[in-house]
Amino acid sequence: MSSQVSENIIKLFVFFFLVYVAKSQTSEPDTLCDINTCPNDERCLRRDGPGNLTFVCECVQTRARDGTMGHNCFKNNDPVHSTFLGCYGKACERGSFSSPNYPQDYETRDKTFMALYIPHAKSIFFDFSSPFCIEEGKDELYVGSGLEIYFGDIDDLDNLPENWYHFDGSGVPSNFTLQGTDTTFVYFSSDKSTVCEGFNITWEAQGKTRCLLPNTLSNFGSTFGRVE
Ligand SMILES: *[C@@H]1O[C@H](CO)[C@@H](O)[C@H](O)[C@H]1NC(C)=O
Ligand SMILES: *[C@@H]1O[C@H](CO)[C@@H](O)[C@H](O)[C@H]1NC(C)=O
Ligand SMILES: *[C@@H]1O[C@H](CO)[C@@H](O)[C@H](O)[C@H]1NC(C)=O
Repeated sequence: MSSQVSENIIKLFVFFFLVYVAKSQTSEPDTLCDINTCPNDERCLRRDGPGNLTFVCECVQTRARDGTMGHNCFKNNDPVHSTFLGCYGKACERGSFSSPNYPQDYETRDKTFMALYIPHAKSIFFDFSSPFCIEEGKDELYVGSGLEIYFGDIDDLDNLPENWYHFDGSGVPSNFTLQGTDTTFVYFSSDKSTVCEGFNITWEAQGKTRCLLPNTLSNFGSTFGRVE
């Protein structure tokens, strides 16, 4: 191969790589809803994952104190959220979420809700940091698939909906993976007395990377979780 040819091949690869990087850095116009169906013009993202949710709303303006949910910003029957955090899109493939003040004690009567939507994720891996402490039997932490939590669904801890987890007590829980989902919520609630250090949970989405050059770029493809 002449050096001219290989130089051109290298240029071509650099070009495709830059295109790939540029594409992965954009704010995903391809996933924005054609018509925004979200209240208050909240950011609306198209969804083609499992289930019948065809769009999701980020719900960050209508956030917080009224129990707003991450699908369509409707309210649930939980009267108050102290904090609502929504993170939607590729930028949310990995991150961490902790109780207020972590690793100092959390507050009494706190309700913190985080919703994540990661387009094209196939599963989401979670790992807890040390310390972990949530007053057993009183305060509670739930992690599950979906963007909504209905408290009627969780009266019976032995019979949680599929793909939901409940955590309390002390001792760092094992890592776990929510399978077959591109949406997840983390919900924390403390009662009126006795506090503890709380939790810090790290997540990482795993899914198929949309590579332009699948074999060549597999290392770069790892910007989206693990390449299958
Ligand atoms: C979506 O599916 C759930 C059950 O899986 C059902 O309760 C709900 O009515 C469906 N919603 C629509 C808009 O079809
Ligand atoms: C997940 O936890 C198991 C033990 O429960 C451990 O062997 C494994 O290395 C952990 N995985 C990661 C990625 O931290
Ligand atoms: C939670 O853990 C992650 C990963 O170890 C770390 O980057 C982050 O700073 C921690 N958050 C807090 C509040 O300690």
